[in-house]
Amino acid sequence: MSKTAAPKLKTRYVCSNCGSVQMRWAGKCPDCGEWNTLVEEVVDEAREKSRQGARVTGSIAGSIAGSIAPQKLSDIQADGFQRLPLAIGEFSRVLGGGIVPGSLVLVGGDPGIGKSTLLMQAAVSTAQHVGPALYVSGEESAQQLKMRAQRLGVGDSDLYLLTDTNLDNVIYQIEAMKPRLAIIDSIQTMYLDTVSSSPGTVSQVRECALRLQALAKSQGIAIFIVGHVTKEGAIAGPKVLEHIVDTVLQMEGDRFHAFRLLRSIKNRFGATSEVGVFEMAGSGMVEVTNPSEAFLAERMSFAPGSAVAVTMEGTRPLLVEMQGLTSPTQNPMPRRTANGWDYNRLFLILAVLAKRVSIRLHDQDVFVNVVGGMTIEEPAADLPAAIAIASAYKSAPVPMDLAIIGEVGLSGELRSVAQLPARLNEAAKLGFKRCLIPKLSRPIERPPADLRILSARSLGEALDLAFGQQR
Ligand SMILES: Nc1ncnc2c1ncn2[C@@H]1O[C@H](COP(=O)(O)OP(=O)(O)OP(=O)(O)O)[C@@H](O)[C@H]1O
Ligand SMILES: [Mg+2]
Ligand SMILES: [Zn+2]
Repeated sequence: MSKTAAPKLKTRYVCSNCGSVQMRWAGKCPDCGEWNTLVEEVVDEAREKSRQGARVTGSIAGSIAGSIAPQKLSDIQADGFQRLPLAIGEFSRVLGGGIVPGSLVLVGGDPGIGKSTLLMQAAVSTAQHVGPALYVSGEESAQQLKMRAQRLGVGDSDLYLLTDTNLDNVIYQIEAMKPRLAIIDSIQTMYLDTVSSSPGTVSQVRECALRLQALAKSQGIAIFIVGHVTKEGAIAGPKVLEHIVDTVLQMEGDRFHAFRLLRSIKNRFGATSEVGVFEMAGSGMVEVTNPSEAFLAERMSFAPGSAVAVTMEGTRPLLVEMQGLTSPTQNPMPRRTANGWDYNRLFLILAVLAKRVSIRLHDQDVFVNVVGGMTIEEPAADLPAAIAIASAYKSAPVPMDLAIIGEVGLSGELRSVAQLPARLNEAAKLGFKRCLIPKLSRPIERPPADLRILSARSLGEALDLAFGQQR
């Protein structure tokens, strides 16, 4: 009756948040308490056993019994690791000032956003200025990589390429070559033979990342891994990865615009508030060293419905144009559309405009748009948005030399915002002559000399100042 032993398959559930293994599915992970994080994985029991054996005998780095003795803190040399310079300034800054040897960096982002492009540029830069660099791709052929390199104008560089998905082999090659920087594109395509689930599953991704982390630390090689991030963060559990790696960078931007933001979400070697701005071009990711200027480049003079906001991206002030448009409608449910700005915030601002300054837009469709594909999440954009809408409605342009900052409260009062001095400096730097801000209880410390500060207590006062009393 019994046939040859088929592999004994078993189903188990792995939490994509904490990585714990459960025998049966549950809505809530019993270990970390997160909801909907358990992912089904099919494992081959026999292989799983041999793998656990391997773990005990120490093939998984760090668990070798007795191999690493405790050290006294005072005995440890902190020789202040020398960061590897990275010629891409915006990228370097986000990392905290260059690449840290022995660090494991995860670069996440939506499909097609430019992860491979930017990392190839970083690898080429390392190969040119620092030392050998290796680009491992499990997604593209060597020819495809060569074509990308040619498009980036670096087809003849000394970068090494490896197209493989077997992580044991990749690690063997890295140990043999000892590059200064290795790129793994992507972690979801890599697999270890000892892990029985398929590539991209939580178990594979976690074990692969642990091995790469051990490799990076033991050899002092900087390793960047690409991680595909689904909207729900499901399949490959970016959370599990985030715990393992030293640094998490996220690439953002929308596919209809060329601007890309590189944000640091976690960094064991630097501040997390840094943001790098790039523009996707035919020749690759081009640094945008003066993003405010780029975001304002296409602004039309004397067009009603346009106001310039000064927002913060981390510690970096950014001037962006906010546009408003109103158009009469018979529709009892007029349209409200916010692009790059919070939809609920738009309702709130419309209510305040109606109630506090008698600008009633119940018979108008209202659109708000942030130019350049940026998304603004902070309340400092309330006042510029309100003024852009009012400007559109009255067909009265906002003066070109005026920048606007401020949160709007429910009673129409204006509230101060964080990091005002940095914002004012950026506005002055870009040639704005006046800046409209909420009235403060304390004087501003060292305001820029050539910037006139107009301060208003309420939305009404702000509109008077913006449109020169002609309201
Ligand atoms: N000739 C070109 N000119 C301008 N942009 C291009 C050109 N070729 C490709 N691109 C841009 O490059 C993007 C792909 O970049 P890249 O492969 O680096 O993204 P990725 O994040 O690695 O994507 P994936 O998730 O598929 O690996 C395309 O979406 C496109 O916008
Ligand atoms: Mg890619
Ligand atoms: Zn969990």
